[in-house]
Amino acid sequence: MFTSRVLLSVSLSLFLATASALPKEQLFARDSSTNRCGASFGGLKCTEIAGAYQCCSQYNYCGDTTGHCGVGCQPLYGKCNSASSSSSKTTTTTTSKPSTTPTTTPTTTPTTTPTTSTTSTASTTSTSKSTTSTSKTTTSTSKTSSTTPSITARSKPGSVPYGPAIYDCDKPGYIALTYDDGPWIYTSALLDTLQRLNTKVTFFVTGNNLDKGAIDDPNSPWRAVIARAYSDGHQIASHTWDHLDLNTLNEANRRWQMTRLETALISITPTYMRPPYISCGGACENTMAALGYHTIIWDLDTDDYNNDDPSLIENSKRNIRNALAGHQVSSTDWLSIAHDIHEQTVVNLTEYQINYDISQGYKHVRLGDCLNDPEANWYRTP
Ligand SMILES: *[C@@H]1O[C@H](CO)[C@@H](O)[C@H](O)[C@H]1NC(C)=O
Repeated sequence: MFTSRVLLSVSLSLFLATASALPKEQLFARDSSTNRCGASFGGLKCTEIAGAYQCCSQYNYCGDTTGHCGVGCQPLYGKCNSASSSSSKTTTTTTSKPSTTPTTTPTTTPTTTPTTSTTSTASTTSTSKSTTSTSKTTTSTSKTSSTTPSITARSKPGSVPYGPAIYDCDKPGYIALTYDDGPWIYTSALLDTLQRLNTKVTFFVTGNNLDKGAIDDPNSPWRAVIARAYSDGHQIASHTWDHLDLNTLNEANRRWQMTRLETALISITPTYMRPPYISCGGACENTMAALGYHTIIWDLDTDDYNNDDPSLIENSKRNIRNALAGHQVSSTDWLSIAHDIHEQTVVNLTEYQINYDISQGYKHVRLGDCLNDPEANWYRTP
């Protein structure tokens, strides 16, 4: 306990030190109006903007992270690394991870050669149940595959729809806690808390965001974290490979974002996904239907990523209290979103939320349970 707290705080401070050195665009690309580049910004090149980092990301921001210089980087408007995502930053965060020791045999057995290109934006930006965001003004990625890989018709068992956005559960008295964007340096601590509180949740995992490197890299610490989450009994769902805005991708690249993660999670192919930025329009929903995915949003937003500070996290707690207030447990269910990439979510909010929900009379289940979907349908057998 003491040791893991020390490890955690060491890794936290390393992470914060690392994170504070990064341009804010890396995490919140859409929130910044500075350092813009590319065709939709007067053809500006990052290399011409004083003080800007050198690479022009697919979202038209200058920066120097692999999110800017890797996948989707626009070579016409700055420099790009075609090489791997290995960098001092990646090395720093990788070596600072809390060690994970799964107590059971990992069930995730990646077999493919990892690709190391990456894109990084992390947190979801939409907030309310009513925002089904539509395509942003971003240009599409520079990944140029033009053929749509043929996918043999996929089975679609059960009664939960495949394709259209799903906002809420169908199980009064129950709450599905879901966590996006991991695994990350806090995920193991979250798994400890969930184990202690005997609570099962759902993880929407991403393959290569936050400059963390591909999760199926043989040296990746994240393989063991996902394997533990699965063997601990949590549901594993897809949050795509790179955490790109799926509306900005062509059909082939959108499919690749899904199938690349499937390749990594080869022994568990999820049938549930959540689109990054909650951005999945008609074409994207059709892609999800074709690939046999349930497209999941939420109806309880903790807004944890805007409140990741001891002085702010009370806002997220209040969001939870306000959401539940005035509803009858016997006729209400909730699909909650938080992010296991934020410290306060893991060390503070989650335990509060679980205890508060229980005090109000709710029980916690995994997403599939909350939709009355038999567990056999949560993963696809190839
Ligand atoms: C947890 O959140 C409360 C506010 O709800 C805050 O006062 C407290 O400092 C936080 N604890 C930690 C360990 O960050």
